Amino acid sequence: MNIEEIEAQNKKKYNEEFAKEYRKNDEAKLKNKDFNHYCSILKEMSSSFNHKITILDLGCGTGTYFHCLENIEKLVAVDVSPSMLEMAHNPVNAGEVKTQNIEYICSNFFKNAFSNESFDFIYSVGVLGELSPLEIDFLNKIYNWLRPGGKLYFTVMDIKNQPKESLYRRLLNYAYQKYMRFIKRKKVVVIQKVKKYPLSETELKRIFEKTNFKTYSISFYQSPKNEWKGAHYEVFAEK
Ligand SMILES: C[S@@+](CC[C@H](N)C(=O)[O-])C[C@H]1O[C@@H](n2cnc3c(N)ncnc32)[C@H](O)[C@@H]1O
Repeated sequence: MNIEEIEAQNKKKYNEEFAKEYRKNDEAKLKNKDFNHYCSILKEMSSSFNHKITILDLGCGTGTYFHCLENIEKLVAVDVSPSMLEMAHNPVNAGEVKTQNIEYICSNFFKNAFSNESFDFIYSVGVLGELSPLEIDFLNKIYNWLRPGGKLYFTVMDIKNQPKESLYRRLLNYAYQKYMRFIKRKKVVVIQKVKKYPLSETELKRIFEKTNFKTYSISFYQSPKNEWKGAHYEVFAEK
C-alpha cells in the first residue's frame, strides 16, 4: 500500500469544487433509504453505551452523519481532504448535532497516532475497502485505539456490486480530457477517477480473522436501485 498515493488521490478527488457539491447533496440525502440505514445504525450503536462516549469518524467527509450520533462526550473527525473537512464545520442538520466538542483533524488516517484506549466508538462509512484499502495492521491500530468494550462499525464496498459509471459521466470525463479549458469555463464538476479497493466477503473475512478483534459480525447491505447503485458489507466489532 502506498499511503502517499492514496492521500494524493483522495485530495485530488475531494477538491474544493467537489466538496461543495457533496455538501449540497447532503440535504437531499436525508430522505434516502441509504442515508437512513447508516444513520440508524450509528444512532443505535452510539446510544448503546451507558455513559458518555468519545467517538472517532474515519473519513468524515462533510460530516453527513454527525447529527445521528448520541451520547457524545467528544467527537474526533478525521479527513485527508481539507475541502471536505471545511464543509464538516457546517454539516447537514447542524442544529441537531449533540455536541460542540468536535476536534477536526486534517490528515491521512493511516498516519494518525492516537494513544491507546482513546475511543469508545469508531466508525467509517464509504471509506475503507473503497477509497482506502482495508489492511490488518490498520485494523489492529483501531483495536488499540478502542477502550475495552469499545465498538467499531465500518462499511466495505462489495467487489461484485460496484456502481457502474453512467454514460453521461463517461462522456463528461472524456470531453474533459479533450476540451478541458472549455469545460472549466462552463463550471461543470468533473469527478476525478480514483483507484478503488473493494473486497469480496471471503477476502474481508480473511483479513478480519487475522486481526485482534475476536467479536465481530459481517452483514450485507444492498443500496436501493434508485439511489447508490452498489452494495456494501458492514462490519460490527467489539473489543
Ligand atoms: C465517499 S466520502 C465519505 C464521507 C463520509 N464518511 C460519508 O459517508 O458521507 C470518502 C471520504 O473519505 C476520505 N478519505 C479517504 N481515504 C482517507 C484516508 N486515508 N484518510 C483520511 N480520509 C480519507 C476522503 O477524503 C473523503 O472525504
